Amino acid sequence: MEIRDVAVIGLGTMGAGIAEVFARAGIGVVAIEADAAAMSHGVGILDASLSRAVTKGRLTAAEQAEIRSRVRPAAGFSDAAAVDLAIEVVPERMEIKREIFAELDRVCSPDAILATNTSSLSVTAIAAASKHPGRVIGMHFFNPAPVMRLVEVVSSVLTADGVAATVSGLAGRLGKTPVQVGDRAGFIANALLLPYLNQALHLLATSYASRADIDLAATAGIRLPMGPLALLDLIGLDTALSIMEVLHGEFGLPRYAPTPLLRRLVDAGRTGRKAGRGIYDYAESGSDDQQTGNEQASATPKTVTLIGAGDDIEAELASAMAAAGINVTRNAAHPTELVLIAAEAGRPVLPAALAAGRPQQAVGLHVAGALAAGTLAEVIQTSLSSADAVQAGTALAAGLGLTVVHAPDRPGFLAGTLLYPHLADAVRMCQDGYSNPADIDTAMKLGCGYPRGPFELIDAAGAAGVLTGLEAMHEAYGYPEFAPPPLLAEHAAAGIPFGGSSRSAP
Ligand code: 3HC
Repeated sequence: MEIRDVAVIGLGTMGAGIAEVFARAGIGVVAIEADAAAMSHGVGILDASLSRAVTKGRLTAAEQAEIRSRVRPAAGFSDAAAVDLAIEVVPERMEIKREIFAELDRVCSPDAILATNTSSLSVTAIAAASKHPGRVIGMHFFNPAPVMRLVEVVSSVLTADGVAATVSGLAGRLGKTPVQVGDRAGFIANALLLPYLNQALHLLATSYASRADIDLAATAGIRLPMGPLALLDLIGLDTALSIMEVLHGEFGLPRYAPTPLLRRLVDAGRTGRKAGRGIYDYAESGSDDQQTGNEQASATPKTVTLIGAGDDIEAELASAMAAAGINVTRNAAHPTELVLIAAEAGRPVLPAALAAGRPQQAVGLHVAGALAAGTLAEVIQTSLSSADAVQAGTALAAGLGLTVVHAPDRPGFLAGTLLYPHLADAVRMCQDGYSNPADIDTAMKLGCGYPRGPFELIDAAGAAGVLTGLEAMHEAYGYPEFAPPPLLAEHAAAGIPFGGSSRSAP
């Protein structure tokens, strides 16, 4: 079935972006909104996005005019009578969706596909309310829709044969990559992304780390395009809350319970970028804790006692400090300004600090990867580290060109605390038979801009390393979601990567 004309119902940020994507691909768009004010706001979003592309030289003025002419603001649902596919992009309230599907049932041809961009409601429940549930499908785009290349094509048990293939073909024509999934809360990307974002907000709420450090740990440490707190503001905290509620309702685990701060921010109307204020404040330039650890740094210590496990990173640190003119000793009895413990993932810093005999003057430094400019360095503060020692460690790491964040002496430090449970969720999704490593990696790379998917990250780090990190977190906190999934333990024991492993595909 060839899709030539579509209807987009709801021209908010996502709807306007989706309308743009269709129009850019040469497909006619009937745009439907509740009233004239909403229509003019939505068309404004579309126009601004196209004008930005012209300014950047990505589109000519003639192309802009042609794309724009394909989008026809409609007077009402009856204008959708001739479309081949209608997609609703309205707020996540079942009663609104049901009304829209009832209208579409009434006006659209029986052959037309009816799609929902829902991110949290059950496609099956939406379909069941339609007169022709076989033609109802999820077509889930990602924000910003013109940029993110993933479309999740979500079939319910009621979806007729061939509909998913047609919608996947359409996604390909739009320049997107489809990933086909069944109807389960959060599908692939949101079910993995949102608990990780929620956990990041929980770390902020519990003063585990600062706002800037949490975001830096993700961008500098995991190389994600945005930090989790900035991404929550982009997605919208209200949207994030409703997705978390649906995930919690479906899966029940404590990890899916929305962290109380998420509710409070939504209650306060601080829903993110669209409100001008969320976790960050977009109205004012620069805000309280946006400075990084690097900026807080004071004078670099001249004498350092280095304690480590005799591994590469310890040797690299020793030579980098020597090259920076720092007097480095391995003897804890020497009266140096700082005791620096080259920290290892999964191992606490405090025992080494106590063994050195000067725990107040000691901090850990965890560098994940080679010691290069910009590499993330976690300065680990034990419960005995003095403020002076933390400042000295910060100055030292910043002076070596590293990107500094601060973390308590707990398993995973900061980046690992965010990453390990996220990777475990991906393995569990695979273990459940909901998806497979290749599709999960594709979804996270194209839907959320990850440079590497969760399974590529596990394979790069080694399943055994991730397993050790999770085991340490599970032992320390006891939360069930930190329990390593058996599939991860199997890969670690067998030493087989997830990439290309047939056993991990459902
Ligand atoms: N609309 C249209 N285009 C946009 C845009 C927007 N809102 N924001 C950015 N762009 C375009 C820019 O114009 C630019 O295009 P160009 O290369 O043609 O000039 C390109 O995207 C890159 O933008 P920037 O250089 O300004 O910014 P970045 O390189 O920092 O990229 C980003 C911005 C694409 C948003 C990147 O930070 C990213 O990938 N972030 C992760 C986003 C993410 O995870 N999205 C998924 C959220 S979950 C979701 O949507 C599901 C839902 O159900 C909740």
